[in-house]
Amino acid sequence: MSQALDEIKIGGLGASRKRVEDSRFIRGTGNYTDDITLPGMLHMEILRSPLAHARIKSIDASKAWQMPGVHLVLTGEMMATRNLAWMPTLSYDTQAVLATDKVRFQGQEVACVIADDPYIAKDACELIDVDYEPLPAIVSPAQAVAEGAPVIRDDKENQLDNVIYDWAVGDADGTDRAFAQADKISKLHLHYPRSHPSPIECCGSIADYNRSTSKLTVYMTTQAPHIIRAAVALVAELPEHMIRIISPDIGGGFGNKVPVYPGYVCSILASILLERPVKWIEDKSGNLISTGFARDVYLDGEMALRSDGKILAVRMHTDADHGAFFSDAQPSKFKIGLMHSAFAAYDVPVAHLTARGTYSNKAPGGVAYRCSFRVTEAMFFQERMMQAAADDLGMDQAEFRRMNFVADDQFPHRTPFGFLTDSGQYGKCLEVGLKAVGYEDFRRQQEEARARGRLLGLGISTMTEPLGAGNSREYDILGIKMFDSAELKVHMTGKAIVRTGARGQGQGHETTWAQIVSHELGIPAEDVVVEEGDTDTAPFGMGTYASRSTPVAGAAVAMVSRKIRAKARKLAAHLLEVSEEDVEWELGRFYIRSAPDRGVTIQECAMAAYSNMPDGMEPGLENTAYYDPPNLTWPFAVYIVTVEVDPQTGVWDVLNMVAVDDCGIRINPMIVEGQIMGGLTEAYAMANMQFITFDAEGNCVGSNYLDYLLPTAWETPGFELHSEVVTPCPHHPIGAKGIGECAAVGGPAAFVNAVLDALKGTGVRNIDMPLLPDRVWEAITYRRDISGEPPVHTDD
Ligand code: CDP
Repeated sequence: MSQALDEIKIGGLGASRKRVEDSRFIRGTGNYTDDITLPGMLHMEILRSPLAHARIKSIDASKAWQMPGVHLVLTGEMMATRNLAWMPTLSYDTQAVLATDKVRFQGQEVACVIADDPYIAKDACELIDVDYEPLPAIVSPAQAVAEGAPVIRDDKENQLDNVIYDWAVGDADGTDRAFAQADKISKLHLHYPRSHPSPIECCGSIADYNRSTSKLTVYMTTQAPHIIRAAVALVAELPEHMIRIISPDIGGGFGNKVPVYPGYVCSILASILLERPVKWIEDKSGNLISTGFARDVYLDGEMALRSDGKILAVRMHTDADHGAFFSDAQPSKFKIGLMHSAFAAYDVPVAHLTARGTYSNKAPGGVAYRCSFRVTEAMFFQERMMQAAADDLGMDQAEFRRMNFVADDQFPHRTPFGFLTDSGQYGKCLEVGLKAVGYEDFRRQQEEARARGRLLGLGISTMTEPLGAGNSREYDILGIKMFDSAELKVHMTGKAIVRTGARGQGQGHETTWAQIVSHELGIPAEDVVVEEGDTDTAPFGMGTYASRSTPVAGAAVAMVSRKIRAKARKLAAHLLEVSEEDVEWELGRFYIRSAPDRGVTIQECAMAAYSNMPDGMEPGLENTAYYDPPNLTWPFAVYIVTVEVDPQTGVWDVLNMVAVDDCGIRINPMIVEGQIMGGLTEAYAMANMQFITFDAEGNCVGSNYLDYLLPTAWETPGFELHSEVVTPCPHHPIGAKGIGECAAVGGPAAFVNAVLDALKGTGVRNIDMPLLPDRVWEAITYRRDISGEPPVHTDD
């Protein structure tokens, strides 16, 4: 009889185990960067530019130097003497650390003061006299490419205009041919507004250079500590083994904590110069005004259609506003990230995408805010286009998607832009969603309501997205191949520690990685401790963003556990005095095939690894696995929203929201649900209320939480989650696909589609996000589309 352990009881795969990290988070005993105080520590504050575009005529820091308590004032000129005024970005561009020649966005770092405390440093910043000569600001891609536009990046020798890249992918000729055959061509023009990931904890670092050991330790808020170590080694020209990056607890990242920021570099240089620890903690406005923004793209597209509803081809063009420096991280092969993952869920024979990236006088943008390298923009365009096309054809929204989905038996499927999707049950997910929302009934109610002047709407968003970069053949950051790692040490009593190259920021890695070990080895999850974020102890990894942790680092955890199991099998054979071939495995135990009652537990094998190993066997039970995934993982989701729009005010209320997510095997269903709810909340915020815009002078409107709204429990609607469709990933060792960002990626289109569905018949084809009541009201009242960013209202 089997003596296998009950996997759910030991906290293995599928257990909704409570998050172990929460015991410190909810008690306020987390250890964030700002919680750390080192002996002799100084504090750094940054002086930021009030202007978006201006030449620097002079900087006089003499008064700041004289202020008691000030130890150092850093300016661009000083940085330049050490070749540190500029740094390379993660996208092969350069970025000013401290401005020398010009400031190029409002909030740009101009000088730093290092003092005994942050208040002295802040006061001293105000004593720095900067003489600016204002220049015209550029705040949109159209302005960037207009005739006579000032060249923002005149620091770059061959940069004669504001274009960063012109990139194309797909089959242009084939797409042209398909369009020539079309019965109908549906068009759409959209703007996905600039948004900010806005983690609750801002960015910060404590650099601690120890002269006697020549070692630099940096505690910092980074999602990718090993990448930062490599960047510091290259920028500061320090030997890599003398750099230790530690990411303590992180209060949310969402992509905002991937780039390298000037504050990190300045605190490091200050610590080296002063030979004392230097702490820099950004304030909220600093974070909102200067750190990695997302989106800010204009999307133009058209779809070639057959009259029966078959999609024949898609053509897309995007203009992306990257701000003053092209500094987001993305695979170097793909200039606009993975925007060409659009339409992967649909059987689209041919497509073509052109993309142009431009500089503007805004803070660097383009970070992957809870998404894989521009996938959010791709899915938003895709699902808005699907709705527009179905409406143009006079077809039912669900039917149009159903008939164009990649069918279950079409996998592996090559998408029109060349990705390979490998699994999914798209039709089934849609049916679950339609049933849950009561589709047919709602359509009837909608008709009846409309007859009485009430505007009800239903929006669908169905999407698959690529999660888990890379494989190393195609994905790299600055030439460093994308893979990930896990190291597992099983102690002699059978307790274990697992370390990965990922770095969670609240996703629950400490809980779920232990569950994978538990699933593979039968060691109870509570006996496995997880550690991430220290480059001196964790194996090299590319970090956590783009929902890549489960697909890559999680896979590495499974693979290293299997290596441990393979060695434990040899130990078991030795203990049971049989040959290895006669040993069988069941969860937590090896036994003799012919005598199942005779077995040894994984804990007994662990003890033997240190006390009774066979002759010739290397002692110990530990190993490391580097995992290079064969493909991305492709989760699928259906989000359906119903709304009522008040035609008198433009206010819209969510009546119901149904989410059907298929992320393959769920390691921890409760954590997965939390990820989905968080993503849907962000999706709702983007659709409903959030934008950061800029006036004509490039002043940032939205650098505080009065203007840039975060949804609270009060506004956020309830979500009905469904988990009944499970399509395991065929190549992931435990069948899991990523989930962290799906809802934030796919959600916005569902809300927008619902509001526009309510307005069907008014002639309104598009309202750009955010769908603020005044914009919806204007669309209804004047029966016109509302495009672009909400206008900036100034006092005068
Ligand atoms: O990279 P990131 O951690 O942001 O995203 P993820 O890999 O999608 O994982 C988010 C959280 O959900 C992690 O704690 C995962 O272990 C968990 N998860 C899960 O339990 N089952 C899945 N199939 C996917 C993720």
